[in-house]
Amino acid sequence: MITIGIDAGAATTKGVILLDREIAGYRIVSTAFDFLSTAETLFEELLATSDLRQEDVVKICATGYGRMMVTFANATVSEITAHAKGVNFFFPEVRGIIDVGGQDSKVIVVEEGKVIDFLMNDKCAAGTGKFLEYTAKALEVRIEDLGSLALGSVHPAAITSICTVFAESEVISLRAQGIPRADIAAGLIVNIAQRIVIMARRMGLKEPIAFVGGVAKNSGMRVELEKELDVTLSVPSEPQITGALGAALAAQKPEKRSSA
Ligand SMILES: Nc1ncnc2c1ncn2[C@@H]1O[C@H](COP(=O)(O)OP(=O)(O)OP(=O)(O)O)[C@@H](O)[C@H]1O
Ligand SMILES: [Mg+2]
Repeated sequence: MITIGIDAGAATTKGVILLDREIAGYRIVSTAFDFLSTAETLFEELLATSDLRQEDVVKICATGYGRMMVTFANATVSEITAHAKGVNFFFPEVRGIIDVGGQDSKVIVVEEGKVIDFLMNDKCAAGTGKFLEYTAKALEVRIEDLGSLALGSVHPAAITSICTVFAESEVISLRAQGIPRADIAAGLIVNIAQRIVIMARRMGLKEPIAFVGGVAKNSGMRVELEKELDVTLSVPSEPQITGALGAALAAQKPEKRSSA
């Protein structure tokens, strides 16, 4: 049985092709202005690269912030459920999930892949990947390199701003004072990690804990969260696709399109 999961996220759109219990292909693209056209292009590219025809796909399930816009999907599933299912595929033992994406961060308590409770911060860019993207720009560092740069820091700079706009000015001001870029990068990561740790503690996350979402690719963030939470995090080899994978898994079960 071939199913496709599409995670229409605020920053990126992800697609996973699932052939029974095997990932047959995946793709990650930036979300353009229009969720639907981004998802349509991604879907066509997924089929082309996997040598599949549309009629080979039994069901398409959408998740993510823009899921209701993906009108060619036969079903939708909430992001929380999708991440729980996707993480369970990689790590069946996991009891807690931290997902940090472009627009929000989520902490989910799970048991055998089922959601028990969750907490979501989606009020503003503070505590999310966008905060890191904007401030990395002010630091003139590629987002891919921010984590490794931060790992070289001995004295992380104190970044006090919660608001992204103020944090950008703070970065510029710290650079003007001659503070090493590694220390500023580490300060930015500490700033975000502290917000995530508060959420994790509030939810009483228990080990083993998985770290997913695009921000899980940031090595500095992984190390900082592990230090603060005093745990070893389980990170899939591609942490950005767990939502899309979970949607593809949900598509294997007969479910009606819902407004959830
Ligand atoms: N290679 C990378 N290295 C470090 N960080 C990365 C990398 N790729 C993406 N990111 C981070 O991941 C974020 C996007 O994560 P993700 O794709 O999970 O978001 P999303 O699912 O679109 O957003 P949301 O779940 O909030 O709707 C970016 O803002 C960036 O901070
Ligand atoms: Mg997401």
